[in-house]
Amino acid sequence: MNEWSQALSGFKAEPKRGETYSGNRGLQIEERLLFEQDAAGRCGVDLPEPPPHKDRLGAMKRQGAIGLPGLAEPQVVRHFTRLSQKNYAIDSGLYPLGSCTMKHNPRLNEKIARLPGFADLHPLQPVSTVQGALELIDTLAHWLKTLTGMPAVAMSPAAGAHGELCGLMAIRAALEARGETRHRVLVPESAHGTNPATAASCGFEVEAIPADARGRVDLAALKAKLGPDVAALMLTNPNTCGLFESEIIAIAEAVHGVGAFFYCDGANFNAIVGRVRPADLGIDAMHINLHKTFSTPHGGGGPGSGPVVLAAALAPYAPLPWVVHGTDGLSLVEHAEGAAKDAFGRLKGNHGQMGMFVRALAYMMSHGSDGLRQVAGDAVLNANYILATLGTDLTPSFPGPCMHEALFDDRFLKDTGVTTLDFAKALIDEGYHPMTMYFPLVVHGALLIEPTETESKDSLDNFIAVVKALAQRAKTGDAAEWFHGAPYLTPRRRLDETAAARKPVLRWRPDEATKQAAE
Ligand SMILES: Cc1ncc(COP(=O)(O)O)c(C=O)c1O
Repeated sequence: MNEWSQALSGFKAEPKRGETYSGNRGLQIEERLLFEQDAAGRCGVDLPEPPPHKDRLGAMKRQGAIGLPGLAEPQVVRHFTRLSQKNYAIDSGLYPLGSCTMKHNPRLNEKIARLPGFADLHPLQPVSTVQGALELIDTLAHWLKTLTGMPAVAMSPAAGAHGELCGLMAIRAALEARGETRHRVLVPESAHGTNPATAASCGFEVEAIPADARGRVDLAALKAKLGPDVAALMLTNPNTCGLFESEIIAIAEAVHGVGAFFYCDGANFNAIVGRVRPADLGIDAMHINLHKTFSTPHGGGGPGSGPVVLAAALAPYAPLPWVVHGTDGLSLVEHAEGAAKDAFGRLKGNHGQMGMFVRALAYMMSHGSDGLRQVAGDAVLNANYILATLGTDLTPSFPGPCMHEALFDDRFLKDTGVTTLDFAKALIDEGYHPMTMYFPLVVHGALLIEPTETESKDSLDNFIAVVKALAQRAKTGDAAEWFHGAPYLTPRRRLDETAAARKPVLRWRPDEATKQAAE
C-alpha cells in the first residue's frame, strides 16, 4: 500500500459538518506514526551489499527482522515537518507559561553556537586543542560570578533541578566537614516541586513553611521551624507567586543564626538580573537556569543548563571539573586532590552543556550589563501591565505590584461552573498556549502568567483582549457547557487526563495496534 492509498483507507464516506473526507483540517495534516506508515521493502537509502565476512556472533546473531518501518525519504521528511508544525513554540506566539521564562532566543546565539569551532568539539579532546572553549566557559563563569556577587560557580549541572542537587550536595559536604549531620531542609509551600524532590532524593527530611497573607514566606513560622538539625532553607526569589521576598535579609540572618545554609532557587533570576546581587542578600548557593534568564526556551526535552554559584564556605566542595589558568594556558582540574581535595565528585561525565554555554555568553555579551539590567526592568514592567489590565476581569491573588509574573486565582470564575482548566482549554482555541495552571499550590485554581520582556505592547494587548473576552463570556452564567467542551479547533479535542496519567501509552506495540484496528 502506498502512502496515498493508506490515507484513503481512513476516508469517511459521508463526513459530518465540520469534518473532512481525509481527517485533515485545512492544511493541518492528520499524521500517523512512522510504524503505521511502514511498507515492507521500502527504504530511504541505497546501501551496498556488505562485503562477505566471517560471522563471529554465534548464538547472539539476531534471528528475526529488526522491526524498523520501511519508509522512503520524502515520507520521513514530511513526517517530521508535520510534527514540527503541530508544536507550539515561542517562535509561533506568546508563551505565557508562568515559572518557565519562555523568552525569545536571539538568532545570533544560534549562529554562534553553530560555529564549527564550538559545534564540532569533542569533550575528550586534548586541552591544548580546546583553549577557546575553555576560555568561553571561564568567561561565562566570570559573568555569572559578577552578576551574582559570588566567588565560585559550578558549571556542570545540566538543568535547574540538577543545580539544586549540586547545591544540596555541596551543603551536605560542608556540613560533614564540620562534623555535623543535619537532617532537615525547609522548603516554602509555594516552591517548585523540584525543590522538595531534590531535598528528599538527597536524603533530607522536607518540612514545608507556610506563606503569609502577602504571598511571602511567613517569617515567624520559619523561625519556629529553625533549629540545630536544619541543614538548609531552599527559597525561591522572586518566588513562584511572582513576588520579591521582602524579608529576605531577615530570613538569611535567621537561617545563618542556627548554622544552616541558605539555598536560593534562582530560576526566576530574569526578574532581578543586573539589579540585585544574590550574595548581597545572604544567599550561600543558587542555581541559575541559563535556559531561562539567558534565553533558549526549554521544554520538550530541550537543552538546559543550571550552573550553581557558591559562597566561599561552599566553594571547596564544588563538583569537578574546573577550569584553571596555568603557565601553559587554560587547563582542567579533573581529580579530587590538592586544592580540589574536598570536591564532592562529579555531576556529569564532562564539563556541562557546551551549546548552552555558548548561547548564554552570546546573549550576555550582546546585551551588555546595561542591557541585562534593562531585561529585568522590562520583564517586570510587562508582567505588571498584565496584572493591572487583567486585574479588573480576573482576580489577582495578592495586592500590590508583582515581579516577572502575574498570579491570579479562580475567584473570578466563582458560581460560573467554569474551572481554571476549562478556561485554559478555551485559550488554546484562540491560538495561545495556556498560562501555568493550578501552580503555585498556595492559591486556589491558580493562573500564573509570565509574559517576559520580549513581548511587545501590541502582542500583550492582543493576549489581554482575548483573556478579557473569555472571562466576560464565562461570567455570562450560561457558558459553562461551551467551556467544558473546549478546545474545539485542535487536531485532538479534550483528552481523558486521568486515563493519560494512570494508563499512559508510551510505546507503540504491533499487537496493541492490531487490536485497536480490529475494535
Ligand atoms: C522555580 C523553579 N525552580 C526549579 C525549576 C527546575 O528547573 P529545570 O526545569 O531546568 O530543571 C523550575 C523549572 O521550571 C522552576 O520554575
